[in-house]
Amino acid sequence: MQGRSRTTSEIVALKEIHLDAEEGTPSTAIREISLMKELRHVNIVRLHDVIHTESKLVLIFEYCEQDLKKYMDTHGDRGALDLATVKHFTHQLLNGIQYCHDNRVLHRDLKPQNLLINRRMELKIGDFGLARAFGVPVNTFSNEVVTLWYRAPDVLLGSRTYNTSIDIWSVGCIFAEMITGYPLFRGRDNPDQLNCIMKVIGTPSEATIAQIKLDSPEIQLKTPLTKYSKQPMHLLLPKAPHDAVNLIEHLLQFEPSRRYDAAKALLHPYFTAAPIAPPPLPSAVSSSTASLALPPRVAARASQASAAVQAQQQALQAQQAAQQAQQQAQAQAQARALAQQQQQQQQQYMMQQQGYYGESSIRF
Ligand SMILES: Nc1ncnc2c1ncn2[C@@H]1O[C@H](COP(=O)(O)OP(=O)(O)OP(=O)(O)O)[C@@H](O)[C@H]1O
Ligand SMILES: [Mg+2]
Repeated sequence: MQGRSRTTSEIVALKEIHLDAEEGTPSTAIREISLMKELRHVNIVRLHDVIHTESKLVLIFEYCEQDLKKYMDTHGDRGALDLATVKHFTHQLLNGIQYCHDNRVLHRDLKPQNLLINRRMELKIGDFGLARAFGVPVNTFSNEVVTLWYRAPDVLLGSRTYNTSIDIWSVGCIFAEMITGYPLFRGRDNPDQLNCIMKVIGTPSEATIAQIKLDSPEIQLKTPLTKYSKQPMHLLLPKAPHDAVNLIEHLLQFEPSRRYDAAKALLHPYFTAAPIAPPPLPSAVSSSTASLALPPRVAARASQASAAVQAQQQALQAQQAAQQAQQQAQAQAQARALAQQQQQQQQQYMMQQQGYYGESSIRF
């Protein structure tokens, strides 16, 4: 829900949580409030205030125009974003997650619907309903965490002692999804999700499984895992430059301890080899925000900021153009060879999606 602050005229987002008179304030709401009030970072949605009445809690957040899922649907090419935008968003996502992890907060439900994009193209992590501070004891976590498609394999195997690597897995999935326009692993249920993952990254070796069990003794495998060999990731991501594929492989490691952490990911050549140019700001107000009448003061501030960012960005884009042209030529050659394969995958996804959303509650 949208509102406007009487004191600052800023548009704000209101999230209402209805309180059950007998059960009191739900624990997810209490978690969200206490965690979010302490988190202050440009890539985390700001919680301005909380209004507590007898029947409901109203959380007042900074307003963002869209979530990443809607952004991909409206601005992407069949969901796929251009490579500059992918890099810009992934960089911001990792910065926000690094801040959470440095502050001992696991998000535990990262997915495109929970990432918000404002008109300045800032990405903000939202929906901390499943988040919690990690501390002692950690082994009381439930494994009913993270929307299935973004859930790490160790959690799918039953680990309850997961850590920050659970969020890094989700980041890897979201990164790949921004490049292709469709979710990387689309399981129907817990076992199917694990198979979808292993069909791409391969079934882990006996030694890796032994190590995972050692780290999480609560994991009990009733039957041995089906053996799949690893697929070359660049075949699934034909449009992605080599360094993006390499980083995704470091994020999507089966064994949690081998996954890069956010700080290491941010130092990967994908981000450091060239400056990260912010993608162009949307020139026209999108149809979903057309009805949003901004007060003149706020509108003026927004357009000033937009002009400054665009000037800076033009200079950076000129520098990058030559390099990107070379990368794109390589990627296009690969893409042509694999276009047919990808088209088949997309068609399959569309068909699955129709079936899947018919019975799923995660559609919004
Ligand atoms: N600050 C915000 N500004 C604009 N839109 C927002 C904001 N926060 C959330 N939304 C929109 O509302 C949706 C749901 O919000 P959120 O993820 O916080 O709640 P939720 O608990 O997932 O809700 P639900 O249980 O209905 O899925 C988001 O996917 C996003 O589209
Ligand atoms: Mg949500």
